[in-house]
Amino acid sequence: MKNQRKKAEPLSGRKILLGISGSIAAYKAPELVRLLRARGASVKCLLTVNGARFVTPLTLQTVSANKVYQDMFDSSDWEMDHISLSDWADMIIIAPASADAIARLACGRAQDLLSSVVLAFDKKVLICPAMNDGMWKNPATKRNIALLKEYGMYFAGPDKGELACGVIGSGRLTDLNNILRTADTILSK
Ligand SMILES: Cc1cc2nc3c(=O)[nH]c(=O)nc-3n(C[C@H](O)[C@H](O)[C@H](O)COP(=O)(O)O)c2cc1C
Repeated sequence: MKNQRKKAEPLSGRKILLGISGSIAAYKAPELVRLLRARGASVKCLLTVNGARFVTPLTLQTVSANKVYQDMFDSSDWEMDHISLSDWADMIIIAPASADAIARLACGRAQDLLSSVVLAFDKKVLICPAMNDGMWKNPATKRNIALLKEYGMYFAGPDKGELACGVIGSGRLTDLNNILRTADTILSK
């Protein structure tokens, strides 16, 4: 019988921490969780305070089959989440990444759980920006992104198209399959 073993998928068996920040595109995050899990990845979600205005922890908890992390000062267990999550994950994907989250990461801030985990993390980070066309084109955002690339972080998107604010422009969260393809490529390196 011919060897019919499929080539191992790079995401299969990987532990992915999905950071979700305050963009309207956060409504797509539960579907991304579903697609990552369908590829064999374990997913934990980290939701910013403003991310939770756009997608509920209950939805993310249900689709990820894991606790959703939101509060750095959660005293319900003894673990320091910003350290234990950075130890746990093989890769961090931030989708959607707001302009402000990108700015915090570029500055090396550690005031909230997302930026603290990323600051403590020494593995691969994939950032998927989503924002208004003006925010995307702003030189401050461009500079923040150039800095993060210099620090070795990876980017997917954004795409051009219709934005939530009604204009056609750049800043749309890239297609979820592009996020998966980019994650595959990064994990295969
Ligand atoms: C309806 C609405 C939609 C928004 N969409 C975006 C967005 O797509 N991208 C973005 O960078 N900011 C967006 N913002 C602004 C962010 O939510 C705001 O900058 C927030 O502080 C980001 O918080 P976080 O990065 O901690 O999640 C939006 C705000 C509102 C009220």
